[in-house]
Amino acid sequence: MGKKLIRGARVIDPACGRDEPCELLLEGGLIAAVGHDLPAEGAQIINAAGLVAAPGLVDMHTHMREPGFEDKETIATGTAAAARGGVTSILAMANTCPVIDRPERVADFYNRAMRSAKVRAYTVGAVSLGMQGKEITDVEDLLSAGAAALSDDGVPLMSAEIMREALIRMKPSGLPILSHSEDGDLVRAGVMNEGALSRKLGYKGRPAVAEELLLVRDGMLAADVGGYVHVCHVSTKGSVDYIRRMKAAGIHVTAETCPQYFTLTEEEIEKQGAMAKVNPPLRTRADVEAILEGLEDGTLDCIITDHAPHTVEEKARELPKAPSGMVGLETSLALSLTVLHHQLGWPLMKVLRAMSTAPAGILQLDAGSLRVGAPADIVLFDPEETWTVRPEAFASKGRNTPFAGWELKGRVRCTVVGGETVYDAEAAR
Ligand code: DOR
Ligand code: ZN
Repeated sequence: MGKKLIRGARVIDPACGRDEPCELLLEGGLIAAVGHDLPAEGAQIINAAGLVAAPGLVDMHTHMREPGFEDKETIATGTAAAARGGVTSILAMANTCPVIDRPERVADFYNRAMRSAKVRAYTVGAVSLGMQGKEITDVEDLLSAGAAALSDDGVPLMSAEIMREALIRMKPSGLPILSHSEDGDLVRAGVMNEGALSRKLGYKGRPAVAEELLLVRDGMLAADVGGYVHVCHVSTKGSVDYIRRMKAAGIHVTAETCPQYFTLTEEEIEKQGAMAKVNPPLRTRADVEAILEGLEDGTLDCIITDHAPHTVEEKARELPKAPSGMVGLETSLALSLTVLHHQLGWPLMKVLRAMSTAPAGILQLDAGSLRVGAPADIVLFDPEETWTVRPEAFASKGRNTPFAGWELKGRVRCTVVGGETVYDAEAAR
């Protein structure tokens, strides 16, 4: 494992509150020292003048599509996209084919990841067999096999009985059930946010209350059994309000949102069609404002991508028939920096905490920190560099981004996992 000395960077570590120019010495895959005038003998010097060095990002909500949907993405291409985006740990959802609902399939994921992943890759295990919502999986065996959390993400888990039992059986682990909160009956066949625009366009909508209903139910179940629920991809003002109140009441709930929910509104459906189709759907300006407030005051704990690649052919279908989802791994840091830091003036530390330290804490991963002895998972980025989103240059197989052509401020220059460089913007030129 090569020794590396990162020099000249502004080091920001949300885990301990450090924000100062200093050096990072990496050795044996770990952070060996953080400080000034560190010994350079035998070390490869990385000149990071003008760059920020921070813990590699932790994206706790991605879809890697392997096995079963390799035309959309593979663990190799999805994690290459992660590396380009400064993401050093990803959590892959279980809605693959077959569904990751048995310990052997968890093991199979890790075997595949060992062969092809460019960053640390973890998998979720499903809550119900085949994600059918009928029968609970073997929670304990999935966790023993290495599932980092449990979720039926992609399909709303309508059985309160299964959710309740899963919450109970997760308790010894301290890990959450990740809830894709949308009431399945209320959103059936819905393609966009329900409201004046969906009526004008003549599309069936997915109402905000569908999201709020399920997350309140799951919060109530967590409160009832002393369990822990994490709400996926929060998109509505009502959700933020309810989560704020549940937290204030002492319920063990955490929550995430995605860049698309604090940058875009439902009007993108009119402009971009299926490229803007995602579940839950893009909402209204008032929702965007509430998501920003929720992130600002900590009601929403983290920023993830819900990276959901689909093929060009699938996304070219007419709106009701096109699949939902957008890729995000290669734009999430830049979008967050552009909007939250540059436009709204948030400190870099606050943005980075929501993208690394906070999700690492939720999943109990040894990540999201630059303390001595931590894994040397690091992102180096230029907070001032501007660039234009060009989907054709993505490492992901997915080209389905609604941000094509956007000019963003903040660019990943280098990503290091376990002391090894997995992405270098210079080399990639
Ligand atoms: O838009 C979405 N796409 N939402 C989900 O929950 C699942 C995802 C997918 O798997 O494509
Ligand atoms: Zn989901």
